[in-house]
Amino acid sequence: MDERIAIVTGGNRGLGLQTCRELAQQGYRVVLAARDPAKAEAAAAGLREEGLKVEAAVLDVSSDASVEAFARDTLAGLPRVDVLVNNAGAIFEATNDRGDEGSANPFVVSADTVLRSVSTNSLGAYRLLQRVLPRMNQAGYGRVVNVSSGMGALEDMGSGWPAYRISKTALHAVTRLFHNEAGHGVKVNAVCPGWVRTDMGGKAATRSIPEGTRGIVLAATLPAEGPSGVFMRDGAVIAW
Ligand SMILES: NC(=O)c1ccc[n+]([C@@H]2O[C@H](COP(=O)([O-])OP(=O)(O)OC[C@H]3O[C@@H](n4cnc5c(N)ncnc54)[C@H](OP(=O)(O)O)[C@@H]3O)[C@@H](O)[C@H]2O)c1
Repeated sequence: MDERIAIVTGGNRGLGLQTCRELAQQGYRVVLAARDPAKAEAAAAGLREEGLKVEAAVLDVSSDASVEAFARDTLAGLPRVDVLVNNAGAIFEATNDRGDEGSANPFVVSADTVLRSVSTNSLGAYRLLQRVLPRMNQAGYGRVVNVSSGMGALEDMGSGWPAYRISKTALHAVTRLFHNEAGHGVKVNAVCPGWVRTDMGGKAATRSIPEGTRGIVLAATLPAEGPSGVFMRDGAVIAW
């Protein structure tokens, strides 16, 4: 019963997979959640081959039905939830609009693309927090990390990728809203991993996957005196 448990969404590749690995290396039992059952099982099996305690779960964060099934089939069976990393995310612009550079322009990106981006990148965390935060509050311990992006910071709002930017700005609102509901011992923060060489970040990105993961794991394992309701990069608070 003393074993700490972490849930990571979008855990099958990129930053999510490395977060699963590092939390498991720190002794957590990790629930690696991914929307494709075969990819979830393959990624979890790979980490188990490294000697880590990782189990697969199916979860499409954009789907109410999938989150409901996850709550029923996985969450309900867990004795505790210490860490939730809302990592699952996607960029919808290029593949769903014109597919050219113009697709990054808010005049051509459709409202529907923005809505779909929000459903995954902001409401994915919202749906999970509705179900997980009450358990953390009851237990008196919890660390929630919403993996966001500097592209969602109003302080530094640039041009391009409007659907992605809006969804990450909304994720900041989700972070603050649930931070307000967090009980004693529970922390809800947003983290920017920097520009990372994943499928999303591309080969030109400046950071390796372990470098990008560092701040996520720091926020997932904050000490009692650590902050809540803030936006961080590399363990330091940055502007929303
Ligand atoms: N890479 C960067 O430079 C960068 C910078 C700032 C923020 N971020 C954020 O970091 C997080 C991880 O990104 P990454 O770079 O590791 O990207 P990635 O390699 O493209 O991985 C994205 C992950 O999210 C999953 N996912 C997407 N939609 C999902 C859904 N509806 N339900 C469940 N899982 C879903 C993907 O699953 P599938 O394999 O099934 O597609 C995949 O596991 C994202 O939130 C991203 O916005 C990344």
